[in-house]
Amino acid sequence: MTKVLVATEKPFAKAAVDGIRKVVEEAGFQLVLLEKYTAQNDLLKAVADVDALIIRSDKATKEVIEAGKILKIIVRAGAGYDNVDLVAATEKGIVVMNTPGQNSNAVAELAIGMMLFMARGNFKGISGTELKGKKLGIHAYGNVGKIVAQIAKGFGMQVFAFDPFVAKEQIEKDGVKVLNTVEELYSTCNYVSLHIPANEKTKSTINFDLLSKMPKGGTLVNTARKEVICEDSLKSIFAARDDFKYITDIAPACHSELSALENRYYATPKKQGAETSEANINAGIAAAKQIVGFVKSGNKTFQVNK
Ligand code: 3PG
Repeated sequence: MTKVLVATEKPFAKAAVDGIRKVVEEAGFQLVLLEKYTAQNDLLKAVADVDALIIRSDKATKEVIEAGKILKIIVRAGAGYDNVDLVAATEKGIVVMNTPGQNSNAVAELAIGMMLFMARGNFKGISGTELKGKKLGIHAYGNVGKIVAQIAKGFGMQVFAFDPFVAKEQIEKDGVKVLNTVEELYSTCNYVSLHIPANEKTKSTINFDLLSKMPKGGTLVNTARKEVICEDSLKSIFAARDDFKYITDIAPACHSELSALENRYYATPKKQGAETSEANINAGIAAAKQIVGFVKSGNKTFQVNK
């Protein structure tokens, strides 16, 4: 019988697990759950005899992939798959998929909430500013960026985007102004919301040069990945400017150094962009259905290691 392991250090909401179980069992497969595991060894043991693996930000390293003796498919229930060793998976002929778009609304709502939190003095009751009329830059116009733009327009923000991988017309039809360079995005916008993936091309690219271009009071919102920020630059920009603000749900390594910067720096205690039951249900069930489709009919839609 096909065995599907759901391995989540940060578990899905119960409703999502129930939904995954229903999809898996209705297909005649068996569900194995490994939640809140604390040792990598637990994952190595659990993956040994399963055909399929569903994960969130859990690290599917070379070691994990090699431990999966009969593993055929890994689905990252979410967007970013920088936690999966694609080379190791491809070498073993394992298909890797993500579930694009399934948790985007949750992340987009958090990004907007973070802007409000910074604009309103961290909800401490002090006088703040409004989002209406401010310029928002969407750095990468994918599934999340698009929803952030849509919500921001409801707030009366002027929305700009930079994304060399999306056709200008496609962005413009959403009423969003396209800027041709990343420098232009940062120098134009009061708020920049990051939605780029973490990969060899993007790591540490948000640097001092770029951040120093932001207008007075500029606020960077990062619900993407901490790796895209150059942390030395982050420390330097805070030292060079007393108006710059940064908010994120993925705390940088220099978090304790920055946390004294009241009202200018904030990191949530845990990564929480996709922490809603809706996002868990959408991404978890999509992952389960993708596994059923792959095992039963070889459907490889959403494969990322082609
Ligand atoms: C994603 O890439 O989908 C988001 O960062 C959410 O990740 P999570 O499932 O670990 O919360």
